[in-house]
Formats: sequence, structure tokens, C-alpha cells
Amino acid sequence: MGFTFAALLGFLSWAPVARAQDSTIRAIQNIFDPLSAPAETLYQVSLLVMAVCAVIFLVVGGLLTYAIIRYRRRGPEDDHEEPPQVYGSAAIELAWTVPPILIVVMLVLVTARTIGEIQHPKMPDAAEQVRIIGHRYWWEVRYPKHDVVTANEIHVPLSSRTNRLPTQMVLESADVIHGFWVPQLNGKTMLVPNYRNTMWIEPYATGIYLGNCTVLCGQQHANMLIRVIVDTPEVYQKWLESQKQVPVAEPQVAEGQQQFIANSCGTCHHIENVRGATGVFGPDLTHFSGRATLGSGVALNDDQHLRSWLVNPQDLKPGCLMPNMQLSSNQVDSILAYLRTLK
Ligand code: CUA
Repeated sequence: MGFTFAALLGFLSWAPVARAQDSTIRAIQNIFDPLSAPAETLYQVSLLVMAVCAVIFLVVGGLLTYAIIRYRRRGPEDDHEEPPQVYGSAAIELAWTVPPILIVVMLVLVTARTIGEIQHPKMPDAAEQVRIIGHRYWWEVRYPKHDVVTANEIHVPLSSRTNRLPTQMVLESADVIHGFWVPQLNGKTMLVPNYRNTMWIEPYATGIYLGNCTVLCGQQHANMLIRVIVDTPEVYQKWLESQKQVPVAEPQVAEGQQQFIANSCGTCHHIENVRGATGVFGPDLTHFSGRATLGSGVALNDDQHLRSWLVNPQDLKPGCLMPNMQLSSNQVDSILAYLRTLK
């Protein structure tokens, strides 16, 4: 628990290296501060529901308060007198039956319309597509239009109300049920094994949006963090291009690459163009050092944390599915140096 909190503080104080992307951290996980179309629609409906509830509360509370004061016991003389006994009143029966029915029908209609708008949106052809696959305890992220694969940090383009550029998401799970929720962008959507859920976002501000897995999926559920990185379409295109480049193995880190393969890291992790690194159980590492965090947001992707992760992943993320590989400190050093070339 202590660590999770420390990781959160890390996020908030994180000062990123100079990069073209907007590094504003949008850590407000609050549905009342929406910055994307589906989240805005949900926000408007929630305001309406709360306004209706507030009016009902005031009417009921007001009548109750009035009755308590108006008909309170004023003295001993009140005890002898029985108040008038009233049996049945068509007017009152109608008053407490018809308005509630109308209110419920109105809320049903508004909710149904909102669900329709969110579930069957009109998507422009330019809409981006992302496939997100939940794993214990990280996110696989695929861009089918561009043949790009990454993990945990989901890059999407900025949209605008006049020139829409939404991102459609297909949500799946590789193991158990997970939940995808970035409150400022969208409503909560589940990732269910053997099923495809869809969701979309249309962010109106650049920055790094934080979210969490929302379904208890195991020991490290709380550290299955989401980062959605929203950038202008130009910066986003640059990022896509960078992901399509295959990092060239530098000769001085050949030893690290060998150790990576020799210690079976490639059984779980894929690295483009590296023989023996074709695994699918762990995150794709082709551009690992281009990511700001490691372990699905559990720590910053700096040398200190990466070293700790390589020595024993169970220290930073107890219960995560990557075992302690019992690497010697020389092996850790050379693998770390190799991973740093994967940008
Ligand atoms: Cu995945 Cu909780």
C-alpha cells in the first residue's frame, strides 16, 4: 500500500525530459471535470439526475420539516386531543403517483438516448483505432491500422469539435475480467475474456490522463495503472512513425542482448527483429525505453527502478507474473544497457 502511494506521488511530481509531447499530467480522476465527448455526455446526464434528486430532496425534506414544526407537541393540552383522522384522498394519491412516474420516464428517455449516443456513435473515417488487451497486471496496446504494438502508455490524437478525430477502442482480456476507466475521457468499460467490448474517446485537451483498472483482478490490481497520452495529430503521427522504426542493435550492447535471450526473457517479451524474443505473455519491449514508466505505471522508467525491476520484479510489484530471474549483477548491468537502446 505504502508503495502505491509513493508511486502516485512520483506521478504527480514527475518532471519529464524535454519532448514534443504535452506532459501536463491530468491526474484528476473526477467525472465532474470531463475533457472528452463520452465523459462530457455522462457528466451532463449525471448533472440532470442530481438536479432532479436535489429537487425531490428539497420537496420531501421541506414538507417533512413543515409537518414537524407545524404539528409539534406544544404542551400537555395537546395530549388529550386526537388530531382529525383522514381516510383516503384522491388528490394526494395522484400527487405521489403521477409526478414520480413522469420523472422516471423522463430519466429513462434521457438515459436511453445517452446510451445510444455512446454505443452507436457516428465515427469519421479518420477515426483512430486502438485494441487494448488487459493482462494481469498490464495493458497490451495495438494499433491495427499502423501495425504498432506498445504497452501501458496509450497514445491517441487530440480531437476538436470542428474537426473530429476520435479514437475507437476494442477492449479484450487475455485472462480475467479487467476494467478500463480514465474518468476524464470515458465511462468505465469492462475487458471480458472471449468477448469484445468497444468504447471510444475524443479528447479535447492534450496531456497525460491517468486511469486505473477498475475490476479486482488479483494481487496487483491497484498497480494496473493507465496512462493515456493525448497529443496534437502532428506529434501523434511522429510518435507513430517512431514506433514503426526498428531500433538497431548497437554492437556495444550485444552482450546485453545475448543475456536477454539466454535468460529466457524473450519467451515472454517480444522485441522486433530479435531472434528468440517472440513472447506474448509480457509487454512488447521493442520501444521500451521510449516509455516514461515501467511495470504498468508502478514506477518511473529510470535506471534505478529498472535495475530494481531486473534484480527482482517482485520488489516493486509483489505478485506480478514476472518471476525473479536470479540475474547476477553483471547480467543486470548488461541487460539494462541493452534495454536502454530500445527507444
Ligand atoms: Cu486488472 Cu484490476
